[in-house]
Amino acid sequence: MKTIVTGAAGFIPSHLVDRLLADGHEVIGIDSMVTGFDDNIADALKNPKFEIIKKDLKQCEKSKFEGVDMIFHMAAYPIRMKKLYDYKTYYKQTEGGALAALEIARRNDIKLFVLPASTTLYGQAKQVPTPEEFIGPDSSFYGTAKFNTERWAEAYSGLFGLDVLITRFGRIQGPRSRNGAAWELVKKIEKNPKRLQVLGNGQQTRSFVHVKDCVEGMMVSMRNRKGKVDRFNIANDDTATIKDMVDILLEEANLTGKTKVAYQDEPVGWKGDNVIVFPDISKLKSCGWRPTMNSKETLRDCIRWTLKEVRAGSR
Ligand SMILES: NC(=O)c1ccc[n+]([C@@H]2O[C@H](COP(=O)([O-])OP(=O)(O)OC[C@H]3O[C@@H](n4cnc5c(N)ncnc54)[C@H](O)[C@@H]3O)[C@@H](O)[C@H]2O)c1
Repeated sequence: MKTIVTGAAGFIPSHLVDRLLADGHEVIGIDSMVTGFDDNIADALKNPKFEIIKKDLKQCEKSKFEGVDMIFHMAAYPIRMKKLYDYKTYYKQTEGGALAALEIARRNDIKLFVLPASTTLYGQAKQVPTPEEFIGPDSSFYGTAKFNTERWAEAYSGLFGLDVLITRFGRIQGPRSRNGAAWELVKKIEKNPKRLQVLGNGQQTRSFVHVKDCVEGMMVSMRNRKGKVDRFNIANDDTATIKDMVDILLEEANLTGKTKVAYQDEPVGWKGDNVIVFPDISKLKSCGWRPTMNSKETLRDCIRWTLKEVRAGSR
């Protein structure tokens, strides 16, 4: 099979690239490198079946790609504190990038469009765990752009017959994750091991899933999808809190009882975040998929990698 992976040098997409290559696919990666890292694709580049095009998707909209069977549209602008309320970034990078990827699919007669979506669209869900059918009020530009991307993909399916698979992720963690709470907390504690300021009251609750389980979940949902558009949540059976993340970090850094941890008197760390993110994974589990690590084990693996990575970077 010949496959395009957009955002190939990013965290989750680079693991997906490795998996597809291991399964014998020929893979074309496209990445503007806005938040991608060369390190992430260093191994993939040793494989003659992989090539990377370092361009923004909008520059590739009219490019010719021969014989491609499917496109994993993984590129999007992540949640970043500096950009949270900058609509242009999410509109241009996430929605603009998605439309360019959909055009690539349409112009090159690619049959399947796989789209990782965000469970931010469940909002402060009244139903927890939250099934695929639920839609809550959106309160972030990141989430809105991701939800609009789902709608654009559905429109392309209706108009041009594209098959669409939407995989909605909980919080994905693991090696190569250089964004989000774990990364920021490790950087802070390495700078000042005496005091750790945490955003929010620490009770924010998330279903954390390991990146390897996430990629396997994408493969299982691909084999089991039904109809022109199908959706699967990919998360864990359980949850952990930001305080659990801090406790694991202190244990792994040998700082338990030595660091003064300061929480804020706020239920969330930033305006637009959700208190609980816990997608219902019954649908994917009914296809035989199971997470191999629970939320806390996932966090520990991610924090171990992050500590090594941040320490190596500061040497
Ligand atoms: N990390 C999570 O917990 C999580 C949760 C829900 C959904 N997702 C989704 O999964 C996907 C991957 O997330 P990630 O955390 O690995 O992010 P990431 O930032 O590590 O990877 C995204 C990649 O896309 C590239 N990119 C962005 N805009 C582009 C454009 N217009 N043209 C070309 N390349 C572009 C970036 O350079 C980056 O390499 C995203 O679609 C994200 O919204 C992630």
